[in-house]
Amino acid sequence: MNYQWYPGHMTKAKRMMQENIGLIDLVIELVDARIPLSSRNPDIDELGKNKARLILLNKSDLADRKANQIWVEYFKAKGFHVLEINAKTGQGLKAIQGMVKEACQDKIERDRKRGIKNRPVRAIVVGIPNVGKSTFINSFAGKACTKTGNKPGVTKGKQWIRLNKELELLDTPGILWPKFESEEVGRNLAFIGSMNDEILQMTELASDLTAYLLKHYRAELLGRYQMEDTGDAVTPAMVLEHVCENRKCYKKGQEPDYEKAASLVIDDFRSGRLGAVTLEMPDAAG
Ligand code: G4P
Repeated sequence: MNYQWYPGHMTKAKRMMQENIGLIDLVIELVDARIPLSSRNPDIDELGKNKARLILLNKSDLADRKANQIWVEYFKAKGFHVLEINAKTGQGLKAIQGMVKEACQDKIERDRKRGIKNRPVRAIVVGIPNVGKSTFINSFAGKACTKTGNKPGVTKGKQWIRLNKELELLDTPGILWPKFESEEVGRNLAFIGSMNDEILQMTELASDLTAYLLKHYRAELLGRYQMEDTGDAVTPAMVLEHVCENRKCYKKGQEPDYEKAASLVIDDFRSGRLGAVTLEMPDAAG
């Protein structure tokens, strides 16, 4: 399948980041815990160099718990500060403040030496579309926060959300664009729904997903669709066939509607009904 993105907005988003990055002490980068590398744009490393960095593995509720731990260690080893969170429920958010302090220790120390007291850390939230940036800002900043007025040098209309006396967030998240470095990255983004489904062949996508699940999350997949495990005889085509029958996916004239069955499988996966699944691991991702 040929995976595409909509490159039209890329320049605008990049410009917004470039304009604001000078004002920022800390880059809070959200990635999708199910595909922590495929959901990154490595350009952020260039854009955010010399800044304190915090990676949040968001949607950790939808990802494999053990894999989350492995990814935390992976990013730590690369020098990032990292936490697993669920922006939707707020799980993991409490640990952020402490982590911010740790990540910005150098800046805090620099300020102290220059006699600057109580200057809050200024942070921007960045990530690819749909990774949970708005949800995160809303849950993290909550209702208690106050928006501060425009500050000199900030792009007109940009506002800082003051979380407390130690931390301010730019209210507009920075949108990064996924990098389609390989077919695998494109496929991973398609699996989690970070692409327009209309341009995708759902049966092919569901078949690829099912093949992965049969290999790595077999019991969860077969359990969900109440299929017997008959070893190698179970193929992705068989699973789709089974879902078709089970969920009564038929076109007129009793012809099986594989597209519909495929969409059901994809939807079950995206909403976590196939269990907590991680789609890439550090080794495989290289
Ligand atoms: P964005 O700003 O980065 O584009 O993402 P946004 O916050 O709009 O979140 C995209 C979707 O991801 C939303 O679902 C949101 O609820 C969901 N989401 C965000 N964080 C988490 C998380 O930690 N766990 C889970 N399970 N979901 C998360 P939606 O279907 O678009 O909206 P809704 O039905 O939840 O309202």
